[in-house]
Amino acid sequence: MAMPTAHNIPIYRGLDEKDRQRLTRDVSAAFARAAAEMPAAQKTEPEEEAVGPTSQDLVEIPEFSDLIGVDPAVYRQINAALKAGKQHLMFYGPPGTGKTTLAQLVAGTLHDVYTMITGSADWTSQDVIGGYQPVGEGRVSFVPGVLLQNFDRPLIVDELNRCDIDKVIGPLFTVLSEQKTTLPYRTDIADAESLAYVILPKPKPSAAAHEFAPKPGWRILATINSIDKAALYQMSFALTRRFGWIYVDAPRDLRGFLVEVMHKWEMVDADDEPAGPIPLERIWRAINGARVIGPAPILDMLKTVRAIDPDLNLLAAPEVDQASAYLDGFYMYVLPMLDGILRKQAIAVATEVRDALDLADKSEEARTLAERLMDLAV
Ligand SMILES: Nc1ncnc2c1ncn2[C@@H]1O[C@H](COP(=O)(O)OP(=O)(O)O)[C@@H](O)[C@H]1O
Ligand SMILES: [Mg+2]
Repeated sequence: MAMPTAHNIPIYRGLDEKDRQRLTRDVSAAFARAAAEMPAAQKTEPEEEAVGPTSQDLVEIPEFSDLIGVDPAVYRQINAALKAGKQHLMFYGPPGTGKTTLAQLVAGTLHDVYTMITGSADWTSQDVIGGYQPVGEGRVSFVPGVLLQNFDRPLIVDELNRCDIDKVIGPLFTVLSEQKTTLPYRTDIADAESLAYVILPKPKPSAAAHEFAPKPGWRILATINSIDKAALYQMSFALTRRFGWIYVDAPRDLRGFLVEVMHKWEMVDADDEPAGPIPLERIWRAINGARVIGPAPILDMLKTVRAIDPDLNLLAAPEVDQASAYLDGFYMYVLPMLDGILRKQAIAVATEVRDALDLADKSEEARTLAERLMDLAV
Protein backbone atom coordinates (compact mmCIF):
# COMPACT_ATOMS: atom_id res chain seq x y z
CA MET A 1 0.00 0.00 0.00
CA ALA A 2 1.04 3.56 -0.52
CA MET A 3 3.07 5.10 2.29
CA PRO A 4 2.43 8.83 2.25
CA THR A 5 5.47 10.92 3.02
CA ALA A 6 5.51 14.26 4.81
CA HIS A 7 4.70 15.86 1.48
CA ASN A 8 2.17 13.21 0.67
CA ILE A 9 4.20 11.83 -2.18
CA PRO A 10 3.41 8.16 -2.62
CA ILE A 11 6.30 5.74 -2.50
CA TYR A 12 6.51 2.78 -4.83
CA ARG A 13 8.71 -0.20 -4.16
CA GLY A 14 10.09 -1.06 -7.56
CA LEU A 15 10.62 -4.73 -6.77
CA ASP A 16 7.10 -5.28 -5.51
CA GLU A 17 4.86 -6.43 -8.35
CA LYS A 18 1.75 -4.80 -6.84
CA ASP A 19 3.58 -1.53 -6.34
CA ARG A 20 4.90 -1.69 -9.86
CA GLN A 21 1.41 -2.18 -11.26
CA ARG A 22 0.12 0.63 -9.07
CA LEU A 23 2.88 2.92 -10.40
CA THR A 24 1.97 2.08 -13.98
CA ARG A 25 -1.71 2.71 -13.21
CA ASP A 26 -1.04 5.99 -11.45
CA VAL A 27 1.28 7.29 -14.12
CA SER A 28 -1.13 6.24 -16.83
CA ALA A 29 -4.04 7.91 -15.05
CA ALA A 30 -2.03 11.04 -14.43
CA PHE A 31 -1.24 11.38 -18.10
CA ALA A 32 -4.33 9.80 -19.58
CA ARG A 33 -5.64 13.08 -20.89
CA ALA A 34 -2.36 14.06 -22.53
CA ALA A 35 -1.98 10.56 -23.86
CA ALA A 36 -5.38 10.76 -25.49
CA GLU A 37 -4.16 13.72 -27.50
CA MET A 38 -1.04 11.88 -28.62
CA PRO A 39 -0.94 10.33 -32.07
CA ALA A 40 -1.65 6.61 -31.93
CA ALA A 41 1.49 4.55 -31.45
CA GLN A 42 2.65 2.70 -34.52
CA LYS A 43 1.76 -0.91 -34.14
CA THR A 44 3.57 -2.40 -37.07
CA GLU A 45 4.83 -5.86 -36.33
CA PRO A 46 8.59 -5.91 -35.92
CA GLU A 47 10.49 -7.53 -38.75
CA GLU A 48 12.61 -10.33 -37.47
CA GLU A 49 15.05 -10.05 -40.34
CA ALA A 50 18.04 -7.86 -39.55
CA VAL A 51 20.64 -7.22 -42.20
CA GLY A 52 24.34 -7.64 -41.46
CA PRO A 53 26.65 -4.68 -41.11
CA THR A 54 26.95 -2.79 -44.37
CA SER A 55 30.33 -3.65 -45.74
CA GLN A 56 32.59 -0.70 -45.10
CA ASP A 57 35.92 -0.18 -46.73
CA LEU A 58 38.43 -1.59 -44.31
CA VAL A 59 40.48 1.35 -43.08
CA GLU A 60 44.06 0.65 -42.08
CA ILE A 61 45.04 2.39 -38.86
CA PRO A 62 48.39 4.13 -39.41
CA GLU A 63 51.02 4.72 -36.74
CA PHE A 64 50.07 8.11 -35.35
CA SER A 65 52.89 10.63 -35.30
CA ASP A 66 51.45 12.32 -32.19
CA LEU A 67 52.22 9.26 -30.14
CA ILE A 68 55.85 8.41 -29.64
CA GLY A 69 57.35 5.07 -28.72
CA VAL A 70 54.12 3.09 -28.99
CA ASP A 71 54.93 -0.58 -29.55
CA PRO A 72 54.21 -1.49 -33.20
CA ALA A 73 52.33 -4.48 -31.77
CA VAL A 74 49.60 -2.06 -30.69
CA TYR A 75 48.89 -1.03 -34.29
CA ARG A 76 49.30 -4.57 -35.52
CA GLN A 77 46.71 -5.76 -33.00
CA ILE A 78 44.27 -2.94 -33.74
CA ASN A 79 44.38 -3.69 -37.44
CA ALA A 80 44.17 -7.43 -36.89
CA ALA A 81 41.10 -6.96 -34.70
CA LEU A 82 39.41 -4.74 -37.29
CA LYS A 83 40.24 -7.13 -40.12
CA ALA A 84 38.87 -10.03 -38.14
CA GLY A 85 35.61 -8.13 -37.77
CA LYS A 86 35.96 -7.31 -34.07
CA GLN A 87 33.77 -4.29 -33.80
CA HIS A 88 34.72 -3.16 -30.32
CA LEU A 89 38.15 -2.41 -28.96
CA MET A 90 39.36 -2.12 -25.38
CA PHE A 91 42.55 -0.22 -24.70
CA TYR A 92 44.01 -1.14 -21.34
CA GLY A 93 47.29 -0.53 -19.61
CA PRO A 94 49.02 1.73 -17.08
CA PRO A 95 47.86 5.34 -16.70
CA GLY A 96 49.25 7.96 -19.06
CA THR A 97 50.32 5.64 -21.87
CA GLY A 98 48.14 7.32 -24.49
CA LYS A 99 45.08 5.04 -24.36
CA THR A 100 42.56 7.87 -24.56
CA THR A 101 44.55 9.61 -27.28
CA LEU A 102 44.78 6.37 -29.22
CA ALA A 103 41.05 5.71 -28.91
CA GLN A 104 40.35 9.22 -30.24
CA LEU A 105 42.79 8.84 -33.13
CA VAL A 106 41.35 5.44 -34.07
CA ALA A 107 37.77 6.72 -33.82
CA GLY A 108 38.66 9.76 -35.93
CA THR A 109 40.31 7.56 -38.54
CA LEU A 110 37.36 5.18 -38.79
CA HIS A 111 34.59 7.75 -38.85
CA ASP A 112 34.12 11.45 -39.45
CA VAL A 113 32.53 12.05 -36.05
CA TYR A 114 32.68 10.26 -32.75
CA THR A 115 31.49 10.80 -29.20
CA MET A 116 33.55 10.40 -26.07
CA ILE A 117 32.13 9.94 -22.60
CA THR A 118 34.13 9.46 -19.43
CA GLY A 119 33.13 6.82 -16.92
CA SER A 120 31.66 8.05 -13.68
CA ALA A 121 30.64 6.26 -10.51
CA ASP A 122 27.09 7.57 -10.67
CA TRP A 123 26.20 6.40 -14.16
CA THR A 124 23.03 4.37 -14.23
CA SER A 125 21.25 2.30 -16.80
CA GLN A 126 19.09 5.37 -17.40
CA ASP A 127 22.14 7.37 -18.48
CA VAL A 128 23.47 4.60 -20.66
CA ILE A 129 20.38 3.05 -22.27
CA GLY A 130 17.66 5.49 -21.34
CA GLY A 131 14.43 5.60 -19.38
CA TYR A 132 11.10 7.32 -18.93
CA GLN A 133 11.40 11.04 -18.47
CA PRO A 134 9.01 13.96 -18.48
CA VAL A 135 9.15 15.48 -21.95
CA GLY A 136 7.03 18.54 -21.30
CA GLU A 137 3.30 19.27 -21.43
CA GLY A 138 2.71 16.66 -18.77
CA ARG A 139 3.93 13.83 -20.92
CA VAL A 140 6.33 11.07 -20.03
CA SER A 141 8.24 9.21 -22.71
CA PHE A 142 11.21 6.99 -23.12
CA VAL A 143 14.30 9.14 -23.65
CA PRO A 144 17.29 7.26 -25.08
CA GLY A 145 20.52 7.32 -23.11
CA VAL A 146 23.97 8.14 -24.40
CA LEU A 147 24.54 4.72 -25.96
CA LEU A 148 21.41 4.77 -28.08
CA GLN A 149 21.89 8.44 -28.93
CA ASN A 150 25.25 7.61 -30.45
CA PHE A 151 24.31 4.50 -32.36
CA ASP A 152 25.56 6.04 -35.61
CA ARG A 153 29.22 6.62 -34.76
CA PRO A 154 32.10 5.33 -32.66
CA LEU A 155 31.45 5.83 -28.97
CA ILE A 156 34.51 6.12 -26.77
CA VAL A 157 33.84 5.03 -23.22
CA ASP A 158 36.88 6.45 -21.52
CA GLU A 159 37.89 5.09 -18.13
CA LEU A 160 35.26 2.41 -18.10
CA ASN A 161 36.80 1.29 -14.82
CA ARG A 162 35.47 4.40 -13.10
CA CYS A 163 31.82 3.49 -13.38
CA ASP A 164 29.83 0.94 -11.48
CA ILE A 165 30.48 -2.02 -13.73
CA ASP A 166 27.26 -3.81 -12.74
CA LYS A 167 25.08 -0.82 -13.52
CA VAL A 168 26.76 0.07 -16.78
CA ILE A 169 27.97 -3.25 -18.08
CA GLY A 170 24.57 -4.82 -17.45
CA PRO A 171 22.83 -2.69 -20.08
CA LEU A 172 25.93 -2.70 -22.27
CA PHE A 173 25.89 -6.43 -22.18
CA THR A 174 22.41 -6.67 -23.57
CA VAL A 175 23.47 -4.44 -26.44
CA LEU A 176 26.68 -6.28 -27.11
CA SER A 177 25.17 -9.73 -26.74
CA GLU A 178 24.19 -9.71 -30.41
CA GLN A 179 20.63 -10.65 -29.65
CA LYS A 180 17.53 -8.58 -30.01
CA THR A 181 16.86 -6.91 -26.67
CA THR A 182 13.43 -5.77 -25.58
CA LEU A 183 13.60 -2.79 -23.26
CA PRO A 184 11.15 -2.44 -20.36
CA TYR A 185 9.83 0.77 -21.93
CA ARG A 186 6.86 1.27 -24.21
CA THR A 187 6.38 3.72 -27.03
CA ASP A 188 3.28 4.92 -25.21
CA ILE A 189 3.58 4.66 -21.46
CA ALA A 190 -0.18 4.95 -20.99
CA ASP A 191 -1.00 2.16 -23.42
CA ALA A 192 -0.06 -1.30 -22.15
CA GLU A 193 -0.66 -2.60 -25.68
CA SER A 194 1.80 -0.27 -27.35
CA LEU A 195 5.05 -1.67 -28.65
CA ALA A 196 8.02 -1.96 -26.35
CA TYR A 197 11.25 -0.44 -27.58
CA VAL A 198 13.77 -2.96 -28.83
CA ILE A 199 17.47 -2.83 -29.54
CA LEU A 200 18.48 -4.72 -32.64
CA PRO A 201 21.91 -6.30 -32.75
CA LYS A 202 22.72 -5.33 -36.33
CA PRO A 203 22.14 -2.36 -38.60
CA LYS A 204 18.74 -2.26 -40.28
CA PRO A 205 18.10 0.22 -43.11
CA SER A 206 14.49 1.02 -42.25
CA ALA A 207 14.20 0.55 -38.52
CA ALA A 208 10.72 1.20 -37.14
CA ALA A 209 10.06 3.93 -34.59
CA HIS A 210 10.34 1.51 -31.69
CA GLU A 211 13.54 -0.09 -32.97
CA PHE A 212 17.04 1.07 -32.18
CA ALA A 213 19.54 -0.40 -34.59
CA PRO A 214 23.21 0.49 -34.73
CA LYS A 215 24.45 2.19 -37.87
CA PRO A 216 27.41 0.54 -39.58
CA GLY A 217 29.82 3.11 -38.14
CA TRP A 218 28.88 2.30 -34.57
CA ARG A 219 31.39 0.64 -32.34
CA ILE A 220 32.61 0.99 -28.79
CA LEU A 221 36.18 1.97 -28.08
CA ALA A 222 36.74 1.72 -24.35
CA THR A 223 39.72 2.40 -22.14
CA ILE A 224 40.54 0.80 -18.82
CA ASN A 225 43.28 1.74 -16.45
CA SER A 226 44.90 -1.58 -15.67
CA ILE A 227 45.95 -0.44 -12.21
CA ASP A 228 42.27 -0.87 -11.44
CA LYS A 229 42.43 -4.66 -11.48
CA ALA A 230 39.05 -5.04 -9.79
CA ALA A 231 37.35 -3.51 -12.82
CA LEU A 232 38.96 -6.04 -15.12
CA TYR A 233 37.84 -8.95 -13.00
CA GLN A 234 34.28 -7.71 -12.84
CA MET A 235 33.82 -8.10 -16.56
CA SER A 236 32.25 -11.37 -17.46
CA PHE A 237 33.88 -13.70 -19.91
CA ALA A 238 31.00 -13.28 -22.33
CA LEU A 239 31.41 -9.53 -22.38
CA THR A 240 35.20 -9.65 -22.44
CA ARG A 241 34.97 -11.72 -25.58
CA ARG A 242 33.10 -8.95 -27.44
CA PHE A 243 36.18 -6.74 -27.39
CA GLY A 244 39.55 -6.90 -29.01
CA TRP A 245 41.85 -6.17 -26.07
CA ILE A 246 44.87 -4.02 -26.86
CA TYR A 247 47.48 -3.58 -24.14
CA VAL A 248 49.07 -0.14 -24.33
CA ASP A 249 52.25 -0.25 -22.29
CA ALA A 250 54.67 2.45 -21.19
CA PRO A 251 57.54 2.91 -23.66
CA ARG A 252 60.31 0.35 -23.27
CA ASP A 253 63.14 2.68 -24.24
CA LEU A 254 62.65 5.59 -21.84
CA ARG A 255 65.82 7.34 -22.93
CA GLY A 256 65.01 7.02 -26.63
CA PHE A 257 61.50 8.29 -25.92
CA LEU A 258 62.70 11.36 -24.02
CA VAL A 259 65.40 12.26 -26.55
CA GLU A 260 62.86 11.97 -29.36
CA VAL A 261 60.36 14.20 -27.55
CA MET A 262 63.02 16.79 -26.65
CA HIS A 263 64.15 16.93 -30.26
CA LYS A 264 60.61 17.05 -31.60
CA TRP A 265 59.64 19.85 -29.23
CA GLU A 266 62.91 21.63 -29.97
CA MET A 267 63.93 21.62 -26.33
CA VAL A 268 67.44 20.48 -27.23
CA ASP A 269 69.47 21.03 -30.38
CA ALA A 270 69.06 18.39 -33.06
CA ASP A 271 72.69 17.27 -32.74
CA ASP A 272 72.77 17.28 -28.91
CA GLU A 273 73.27 13.80 -27.59
CA PRO A 274 73.29 13.13 -23.87
CA ALA A 275 76.66 12.24 -22.38
CA GLY A 276 75.43 10.42 -19.30
CA PRO A 277 72.03 9.43 -18.00
CA ILE A 278 69.25 11.97 -18.52
CA PRO A 279 67.77 13.10 -15.16
CA LEU A 280 64.18 12.58 -16.29
CA GLU A 281 65.04 9.11 -17.54
CA ARG A 282 66.48 8.13 -14.16
CA ILE A 283 63.47 9.54 -12.35
CA TRP A 284 61.00 7.78 -14.67
CA ARG A 285 62.84 4.46 -14.35
CA ALA A 286 62.80 4.76 -10.56
CA ILE A 287 59.05 5.46 -10.61
CA ASN A 288 58.42 2.49 -12.87
CA GLY A 289 60.22 0.35 -10.32
CA ALA A 290 57.43 1.20 -7.89
CA ARG A 291 54.52 1.60 -10.30
CA VAL A 292 54.61 1.72 -14.09
CA ILE A 293 53.34 5.01 -15.48
CA GLY A 294 53.09 6.11 -19.10
CA PRO A 295 54.57 9.26 -20.64
CA ALA A 296 51.71 11.64 -19.78
CA PRO A 297 52.85 12.77 -16.29
CA ILE A 298 56.50 12.67 -17.36
CA LEU A 299 55.75 14.94 -20.31
CA ASP A 300 53.86 17.30 -18.00
CA MET A 301 56.86 17.33 -15.70
CA LEU A 302 59.15 18.02 -18.66
CA LYS A 303 57.03 20.96 -19.78
CA THR A 304 57.03 22.32 -16.24
CA VAL A 305 60.81 22.17 -15.99
CA ARG A 306 61.00 23.94 -19.31
CA ALA A 307 58.48 26.61 -18.36
CA ILE A 308 60.26 27.38 -15.09
CA ASP A 309 63.79 27.36 -16.49
CA PRO A 310 63.96 27.66 -20.30
CA ASP A 311 67.77 27.66 -20.31
CA LEU A 312 68.25 24.48 -18.32
CA ASN A 313 70.11 21.69 -20.14
CA LEU A 314 67.67 18.80 -20.00
CA LEU A 315 70.28 16.23 -20.98
CA ALA A 316 72.57 16.74 -17.96
CA ALA A 317 72.15 16.82 -14.20
CA PRO A 318 70.79 20.24 -13.14
CA GLU A 319 72.90 22.91 -11.47
CA VAL A 320 72.28 23.43 -7.74
CA ASP A 321 69.75 26.20 -8.31
CA GLN A 322 67.95 24.32 -11.11
CA ALA A 323 66.86 21.22 -9.20
CA SER A 324 63.78 22.99 -7.87
CA ALA A 325 62.29 23.15 -11.39
CA TYR A 326 62.39 19.36 -11.55
CA LEU A 327 60.99 19.05 -8.05
CA ASP A 328 58.09 21.34 -8.91
CA GLY A 329 57.25 19.23 -11.93
CA PHE A 330 57.61 16.06 -9.87
CA TYR A 331 55.30 17.27 -7.10
CA MET A 332 52.73 18.61 -9.55
CA TYR A 333 52.35 15.65 -11.87
CA VAL A 334 54.20 12.56 -10.73
CA LEU A 335 53.77 12.42 -6.97
CA PRO A 336 49.95 12.14 -7.15
CA MET A 337 50.33 9.03 -9.29
CA LEU A 338 52.27 7.26 -6.55
CA ASP A 339 49.63 7.18 -3.86
CA GLY A 340 49.70 3.89 -2.01
CA ILE A 341 53.17 2.65 -2.98
CA LEU A 342 55.09 0.64 -0.40
CA ARG A 343 57.43 2.34 2.05
CA LYS A 344 60.51 0.68 0.64
CA GLN A 345 59.48 1.77 -2.86
CA ALA A 346 59.03 5.34 -1.59
CA ILE A 347 62.54 5.26 -0.17
CA ALA A 348 63.97 3.89 -3.42
CA VAL A 349 62.22 6.59 -5.50
CA ALA A 350 63.31 9.36 -3.10
CA THR A 351 66.92 8.18 -3.24
CA GLU A 352 67.01 7.93 -7.02
CA VAL A 353 65.32 11.30 -7.60
CA ARG A 354 67.74 12.87 -5.11
CA ASP A 355 70.74 11.40 -6.94
CA ALA A 356 69.40 12.20 -10.41
CA LEU A 357 69.08 15.84 -9.34
CA ASP A 358 72.43 15.91 -7.52
CA LEU A 359 70.78 16.93 -4.25
CA ALA A 360 72.92 16.69 -1.12
CA ASP A 361 71.84 13.88 1.16
CA LYS A 362 71.06 16.21 4.08
CA SER A 363 69.64 19.07 2.06
CA GLU A 364 66.27 20.60 2.81
CA GLU A 365 65.02 19.55 -0.67
CA ALA A 366 66.06 15.93 -0.20
CA ARG A 367 64.31 15.79 3.18
CA THR A 368 61.10 17.28 1.83
CA LEU A 369 61.17 14.88 -1.11
CA ALA A 370 61.55 11.86 1.16
CA GLU A 371 58.80 13.11 3.49
CA ARG A 372 56.30 13.69 0.71
CA LEU A 373 56.92 10.27 -0.77
CA MET A 374 56.62 8.60 2.63
CA ASP A 375 53.32 10.41 3.19
CA LEU A 376 51.84 8.53 0.23
CA ALA A 377 53.31 5.18 1.22
CA VAL A 378 51.40 2.44 2.98
N1 LIG B 1 53.38 7.69 -26.28
C1 LIG B 1 53.09 8.98 -26.20
N2 LIG B 1 53.66 9.88 -27.01
C2 LIG B 1 53.37 11.18 -26.93
N3 LIG B 1 52.47 11.70 -26.09
C3 LIG B 1 51.85 10.86 -25.26
C4 LIG B 1 52.12 9.46 -25.26
N4 LIG B 1 51.35 8.86 -24.32
C5 LIG B 1 50.63 9.84 -23.77
N5 LIG B 1 50.93 11.03 -24.33
C6 LIG B 1 50.32 12.31 -24.03
O1 LIG B 1 49.91 12.33 -22.70
C7 LIG B 1 48.61 12.90 -22.58
C8 LIG B 1 47.68 11.96 -21.87
O2 LIG B 1 47.59 10.74 -22.54
P1 LIG B 1 46.28 9.86 -22.48
O3 LIG B 1 45.91 9.46 -23.83
O4 LIG B 1 45.25 10.59 -21.69
O5 LIG B 1 46.80 8.60 -21.63
P2 LIG B 1 45.90 7.48 -20.91
O6 LIG B 1 44.53 7.56 -21.46
O7 LIG B 1 46.59 6.20 -21.22
O8 LIG B 1 45.96 7.80 -19.45
C9 LIG B 1 48.15 13.22 -23.98
O9 LIG B 1 48.34 14.59 -24.20
C10 LIG B 1 49.05 12.42 -24.84
O10 LIG B 1 49.27 13.07 -26.07
MG1 LIG C 1 42.87 8.05 -20.40
